[in-house]
Amino acid sequence: MTATEDLRAEHEGILRMLAILEAVAVRLGDGKDVPAEHLAGMLDFLKTFADKCHHGKEEDILFPALEAAGLARDSGPIGVMLREHTIGRGHIRAMALALELMEPGGARAPVESFRAEALAYVELLAQHIAKENNVLFVMAERLLGEDALTRMHGAFERLERERIGPGRHEAFHAMLDDYSAQYLA
Ligand SMILES: [Fe+2]
Ligand SMILES: [Fe+2]
Repeated sequence: MTATEDLRAEHEGILRMLAILEAVAVRLGDGKDVPAEHLAGMLDFLKTFADKCHHGKEEDILFPALEAAGLARDSGPIGVMLREHTIGRGHIRAMALALELMEPGGARAPVESFRAEALAYVELLAQHIAKENNVLFVMAERLLGEDALTRMHGAFERLERERIGPGRHEAFHAMLDDYSAQYLA
């Protein structure tokens, strides 16, 4: 497997979570309850799987290799991707704060805030992933070549073990199956 194949596969997992999050936002907008522990699970997925692990592989390994191959960091696609990761972290923090303020039968404002931040995050990440798949990764495949990207995948595996620990990836995929059955059926 190459590094970009791994990142593309993780994008599929993240897109499944975005579909779940969008369905949950619609439910909250309709005034229906969603268990707080499910919302916390979704945030854990976004913080750990999407940001710490996936964006970590991009920011700490792929992007520096692209810079070394001649792509500019601040202008062009790398700069855009980094800025979008930062904006995404802001939405995740705002969702986490809203979740802390939610109480059963409590005020409507934190629910509305969670819903709005979730939809903004879905919109941001969906177009971000499309740009990476169709532009940045295509450039990476051309600039770095298959051998280097296969070696890079080894570095990704080490990052994943160090930052999220063994078994977590599989647990997140089980969570995707569980929430898909509950919210996308
Ligand atoms: Fe990214
Ligand atoms: Fe990505």
